Amino acid sequence: MQTEPQAATKNFAFQSPNGMVLGPVLPISPLDSCVPDPTPSFIDPLLLPPAERYKLLIGGVVPRPIALVSSISPNGVPNLAPFSFFCGVGSNPMTVLFCPASKPDGSDKDTLRNVCPASEGGTGEFVVNVVSEAIGLRMSAAAEPLAYETSEFEFSGLTPVASVKVRPHRVAESFLSFECRTRQVIRTNPGAPDSGNIVLGEVVGVVAAAGLINERHHVDAAMLDAIGRMGGNTYCTTRERFDLPRGAAALGNKLRD
Ligand SMILES: Cc1cc2nc3c(=O)[nH]c(=O)nc-3n(C[C@H](O)[C@H](O)[C@H](O)COP(=O)(O)O)c2cc1C
Repeated sequence: MQTEPQAATKNFAFQSPNGMVLGPVLPISPLDSCVPDPTPSFIDPLLLPPAERYKLLIGGVVPRPIALVSSISPNGVPNLAPFSFFCGVGSNPMTVLFCPASKPDGSDKDTLRNVCPASEGGTGEFVVNVVSEAIGLRMSAAAEPLAYETSEFEFSGLTPVASVKVRPHRVAESFLSFECRTRQVIRTNPGAPDSGNIVLGEVVGVVAAAGLINERHHVDAAMLDAIGRMGGNTYCTTRERFDLPRGAAALGNKLRD
C-alpha cells in the first residue's frame, strides 16, 4: 500500500526523456493566486464586426515589436510605414514576417503593393528597421496614409540610406536593419476589407550600428532601446528586463536519478 508522502512525490514527479526524475520541489508562488477569474467570458469572434475583433487582437497580443518597413515602388519611389503584426519566423533561411492588412475598401496598402514579387506587380524587396524610442514619434508619423508614391521618409524626416543588397533604403537613425527579399505573400481573404496579408521575407543582409552586436552575435538590448506597441496609441519600452530559468530549472528542480 502507498504511503501519503510517496503519493505526493508521484503527483509532482515527471519522467524526463532520458529516464531521470524531475524532483517535486516547487518554490514558486501558488498557481491559485494567478487565476484571475474562474468563470471568464467567452467571445465568439464570428459574432463581432472586424473592427471589434481588431481591438481584441491589438489589445491582447502585446507587446508587439515594430517593423518600420521601407520599400520602393516599381517606379523607384521610396515608401516607409510601421507594422507591429511582425515577428521572426526562422533562421534557416533567416526569415521574418509582417502583416499589412487590406484597406477598408479591400485594396492593398502601399507597402504591400511594393513588396509583392515582381510577378504580382511589386519589387519584391523591403527593409525592416527596428524602432528605438528616440525615433518613436517619427515612426508614428510614417503611419500617415499618404498617396501612393509619396515618400514617408520626407514626411517623417527620417533619413534614407542606400542598402547593401536590396533597392529599398534603410533608415539611417535605426540601430538595426534587416534587408529582405520577399519569398511569399499569403492573403487570408483576398480583396476583402480589413483582411490579413502575411509577407514572408528572407533576410539577405543585417545592418547594425557599431557596438550593437558583440562577437558572439548577441544584440545589446539597452543600446537598441526598442519600443513595442500595445493597444491603440500606447507603446512600451524594453528597459525593464528580467531573466527566468528555463524548463525544469524554472520550477527550482534539479535533475536527479
Ligand atoms: C505602431 C504602428 C503599428 C502598425 N502596425 C500595422 C500592422 O501591423 N498592419 C497594418 O496593416 N497596419 C499597421 N499600422 C498602420 C500602417 O502603418 C498605416 O496603415 C500606414 O499608412 C500604411 O502605409 P502604406 O500605405 O504606405 O503601406 C501600424 C501603425 C502604427 C503607428
